[in-house]
Amino acid sequence: MKVLLIGSGGREHALAWKLAQSPRLTALFAAPGNPGIAEHATISDVDIDDQAAVVAFCRDTAIDFVVVGPEAPLVAGLADRLRKAGIVTFGPSAAAAQLEGSKGFTKDLCAQYDIPTGAYRRFGNASEAKAYIEAQGAPIVIKADGLAAGKGVTVAMTMGEALAAIDDCFDGAFGAAGAEVVVEAFLSGEEASFFCLCDGRTLLPLATAQDHKRVGDGDTGPNTGGMGAYSPAPVMTPDLVARTMTEIIAPTMRGMAKNGMPFSGVFFAGLMITDKGPELIEYNVRFGDPECQVLMMRLKSDLLPILFACATGTLDTVTAEWHDETALTVVLASKGYPGAYAKGTPIEAIPAERNDAKVFHAGTALKERKLVATGGRVLNATAVGPTAAIAQEKAYQLVDGIVWDNGFCRRDIGYLAIERENP
Ligand SMILES: Nc1ncnc2c1ncn2[C@@H]1O[C@H](COP(=O)(O)OP(=O)(O)O)[C@@H](O)[C@H]1O
Ligand SMILES: [Mg+2]
Repeated sequence: MKVLLIGSGGREHALAWKLAQSPRLTALFAAPGNPGIAEHATISDVDIDDQAAVVAFCRDTAIDFVVVGPEAPLVAGLADRLRKAGIVTFGPSAAAAQLEGSKGFTKDLCAQYDIPTGAYRRFGNASEAKAYIEAQGAPIVIKADGLAAGKGVTVAMTMGEALAAIDDCFDGAFGAAGAEVVVEAFLSGEEASFFCLCDGRTLLPLATAQDHKRVGDGDTGPNTGGMGAYSPAPVMTPDLVARTMTEIIAPTMRGMAKNGMPFSGVFFAGLMITDKGPELIEYNVRFGDPECQVLMMRLKSDLLPILFACATGTLDTVTAEWHDETALTVVLASKGYPGAYAKGTPIEAIPAERNDAKVFHAGTALKERKLVATGGRVLNATAVGPTAAIAQEKAYQLVDGIVWDNGFCRRDIGYLAIERENP
């Protein structure tokens, strides 16, 4: 099978690495790709924002299957366009991708199908939103409705913060994504992520994970795209996984089908484990980054037939086997991230891959044949071990083998899981 992978992050490097191991693969192409992905795939310069060009590339290259990594092309309808051209594609339609593209859409679906989530209201102007917030009181959560690259949510602990967040949204801090806001009840508990494939009528549960969003050790400082992650998430007991499937994921699948937009792709549920059980914080409609990196390290099965079955409505014919071990990834970012950072700084050395440890590339490029950092989040040092503590130790050994003066990372990724191992 000839496959085209869309994307250029650490998530796509992990997908490329795993797809490249498939005996069913005859050729792997990637666009836009990165130097890590280039170890496993032929890089194409087709513009992924030009849907007609992507279709033309697939025809010219006789691509059998397209795997879309990131959310933006899905929300823009790339999967619809490819399927219309007769090309099998992994990833939801634009209509179904509203689950990620519009927070209000997802909250309305939860209300319609009794899916546990925080109480909420949607607003299109500041004055009504503020009146509602004043009536509810703090803490309270303000969310820009649309895609805001992880920056559109304010968990306001005070009334002042909440009202300021409303002004930010309606003053255009998030562009069109903030033209509407969702105001929702603050949920307290431990967060976890759950990944499940769906072909429209069948579900294939994958695995649990937890990530670290804050830039600093001890989960302090500003939010980022994610500074590290591990899988499994010990907070997600088998009972909580079963409840998540029956109370959240299955009704979402049925509701989306009933509402005329059957979902095909990854359900990435962001959950809060409250006193009442799992409640939905949000859906993403693609693999997480960096969660995908730890999932791929734990997946024993061949990824390609699983994704192909998902895309062709035959998910009931495949299973996914997992290593019981913990996988843990540490994100190395450019100094200054998530604020301003220098671009083009040299990366002098990356340790070679071992069967239990691998560095994935995210924001890297080749400049005059030398590897440089081009993004905020740049490398993902990923390792597996029999415990979270051992996986952490191995991941940091990998980090310490990376020579990149302008990089930094957190030193405590996985601490919650390790505390659970040593109560
Ligand atoms: N209702 C809520 N109660 C408490 N914290 C929340 C709530 N909603 C979101 N958060 C926090 O804000 C983070 C970002 O919110 P989320 O809806 O996942 O948006 P996004 O990932 O698109 O930025 C969550 O990971 C969680 O830590
Ligand atoms: Mg989130």
